[in-house]
Amino acid sequence: MAERSAHVDRRSPIRRGGGTLYRRLQSLRFLVGRDRAAVLGFLRASTASPLPLAARIRLVSRFIRITNHVRAYHSQAEMVAVAEAILRRAGRSQLTIVECGSGKGASTAKLSLVAKLAGGRLVVFDSFRGMPANEERHEDLGGRPMVFRRGAFYGRLREVQRTVARFGAPDVVEYRKGWLADTLPQFDQAVDVAVLDVDLLASTRTCLTHLVPRLRAGGVIFTQDGHLRAVAALLADASFWRDEVGVAPPAIPGVGHRKFLTIRFDEPAAARDPHPSSD
Ligand SMILES: C[S@@+](CC[C@H](N)C(=O)[O-])C[C@H]1O[C@@H](n2cnc3c(N)ncnc32)[C@H](O)[C@@H]1O
Repeated sequence: MAERSAHVDRRSPIRRGGGTLYRRLQSLRFLVGRDRAAVLGFLRASTASPLPLAARIRLVSRFIRITNHVRAYHSQAEMVAVAEAILRRAGRSQLTIVECGSGKGASTAKLSLVAKLAGGRLVVFDSFRGMPANEERHEDLGGRPMVFRRGAFYGRLREVQRTVARFGAPDVVEYRKGWLADTLPQFDQAVDVAVLDVDLLASTRTCLTHLVPRLRAGGVIFTQDGHLRAVAALLADASFWRDEVGVAPPAIPGVGHRKFLTIRFDEPAAARDPHPSSD
């Protein structure tokens, strides 16, 4: 059974760690292949949004540097899509970005750079002890079995903070350490953009039930876990949205087909009526 976790092949003579030539070549391969269209789209969007081309190029090169040095569990395509959403909200008062699931801190460092450029702050939720104990058994959209063992993706808080200090913008980041079921219910601030990368169904459920009611009108939630059948099924389940989250089920383009999903909430929280009357 596959485990989505750091791959270490102790027999391989090739060094694959942070900063190695192997890592740089891999990063370049993804940039000119898988992520090319999204990154070019991000650079071209400079005319329509407040960040000029030169600053976008600088941001993308800092993203690449982070990927070269820190084990990352996302693609640059995913990160530039989130960056664009944050930049479009630049200058809003109390602009708040939430990240659930920071792993080793690569995504956290990138999001911190974008939060700073947009004049906002980033609040990061993670156990900083890796995945919780769980009995979940997953399949990806292609039917491949996956498990997420306790402790997988472990990045200590100090390690993540060091990564953000070295590569990101530490002055705009706040950390909420602990299990999501304990930390999220205590969070009572309005949110503009949330990024979920938590893998487990239980964790996704906790994030959505606590964050959706906190979203400002025009807010958006990204999930990087749409490749898991159980997560896709949850997102497509109208009764989950109505009964557990308390909102009308949102349209989620690509659910059941794509890993990276965007969930938009255009209405203010109070107007997200799960049971609209028919008059
Ligand atoms: C795949 S990693 C995140 C990777 C990171 N976003 C990146 O792109 O590099 C998943 C993270 O979710 C966290 N996580 C999952 N469920 C959690 C829970 N219930 N409470 C706290 N943290 C949780 C794990 O600790 C882990 O750091």
